[in-house]
Amino acid sequence: MKVLLTGGAGFIGSHCAVELYNEGFEPYILDNFVNSKPAVADRIRKITGKDIPLFEGDILDTAYLEQILEENKIEAVMHFAALKSVGESVGMPLEYYKNNVAGTLSILEAIKRCSVKNFLFSSSCTVYGENALSPVTEGLPLGGTTNPYGTSKFMVELILRDFKRAFKDFQLISLRYFNPIGAHPSGHIGEDSRTKPTNLMPLIMKAVSGQIKELSVFGNDYPTHDGTCIRDYIHVVDLARAHVAAIKRAKFSPDEVVTYNIGTGHGFSVMEMLETFEKTTGETVPFKIVGRRPGDLTEIYADPSKALNELGWKAEKTLEDMCKDSWNWQTLNPEGYPD
Ligand code: NAD
Ligand code: WQD
Repeated sequence: MKVLLTGGAGFIGSHCAVELYNEGFEPYILDNFVNSKPAVADRIRKITGKDIPLFEGDILDTAYLEQILEENKIEAVMHFAALKSVGESVGMPLEYYKNNVAGTLSILEAIKRCSVKNFLFSSSCTVYGENALSPVTEGLPLGGTTNPYGTSKFMVELILRDFKRAFKDFQLISLRYFNPIGAHPSGHIGEDSRTKPTNLMPLIMKAVSGQIKELSVFGNDYPTHDGTCIRDYIHVVDLARAHVAAIKRAKFSPDEVVTYNIGTGHGFSVMEMLETFEKTTGETVPFKIVGRRPGDLTEIYADPSKALNELGWKAEKTLEDMCKDSWNWQTLNPEGYPD
């Protein structure tokens, strides 16, 4: 099956391209490189031995999308392309809504015109909003998002719901990722954001490699066992394999968008993450405790049983694997991908 990956040069899309290829799919990538580099194609070739077709372009360019879909007889679209920095989105709401919401509308128009009936969306646990009680199940009400990035994901979920109501023969899948980290065990592909990192693992890398003085741990007075926030970290290779499982095995629903939580089901605190990183890599993470970061939830982790029951997918990799592979990527690529 030929699958177009919008944003496929990015962190998650590149890992999905590899896993799709390994499972006999034919991935094609479209990316405008706003947060990635063309060099990722050489790295995917190093892992798979294959030149994955890579188109440079913008998802807002509907005509170009239609051309790619038609000329290559694409049968499914996995839509990763988005701007993804929560903090940045607060100061740039228009750019975020245009790229993430209008960009998705452009893709939906293109798949509708070209009758590409399989569509998978990169959603996020952020759509459950700030009042979600863990473990989070797919049936919880959505909304209550607190920043334009999160709201853009929520808005797209609403748009997909209405698209599905009108065009029932399309199969729409929404995967709600929890906190993806790690890298391919080869160290050839990993996370290399152009925007200033604000997520925990990239900042641990910076602190350990001396690019910043220390990691700021945002609050140790939360009502958790050690006072720091709890998240469901998932290895990016497990996450990529969830996409393969979804496209292979998600049952067609005539009535609704098929949604799955993609997490491990286990929550770890920030301090547990630092301890595991140190134990696994032998490195020291310099850190200091600072005040809470506005908007942080005390804890959020998935109930991933729907994905297990319906797709036969579950996360296999441990927190140790995530730390080891993140550090391996960092040490092999201290500057990220070459220009
Ligand atoms: P990423 O920034 O590494 O990858 C996104 C890719 O999309 C980049 O290569 C970027 O250049 C491209 N892109 C952005 N706008 C584009 C446009 N208009 N046209 C063409 N290409 C465009 O991000 P990622 O971490 O790989 O995230 C992939 C998807 O998963 C995103 O939709 C993100 O919102 C979602 N998601 C990510 C996380 C996370 O923590 N990384 C968690 C939940 C959901
Ligand atoms: C994890 C934990 C912080 C940085 C974000 C988005 C979410 C999703 C995943 C896309 C929290 C703590 C962090 C630091 C710290 N993305 N932390 N010091 O906030 O759970 O989720 O990424 O959809 O929508 O909101 O991830 O990695 O930023 O934080 O103490 O310097 O690490 O407080 O408890 P978050 P994160």
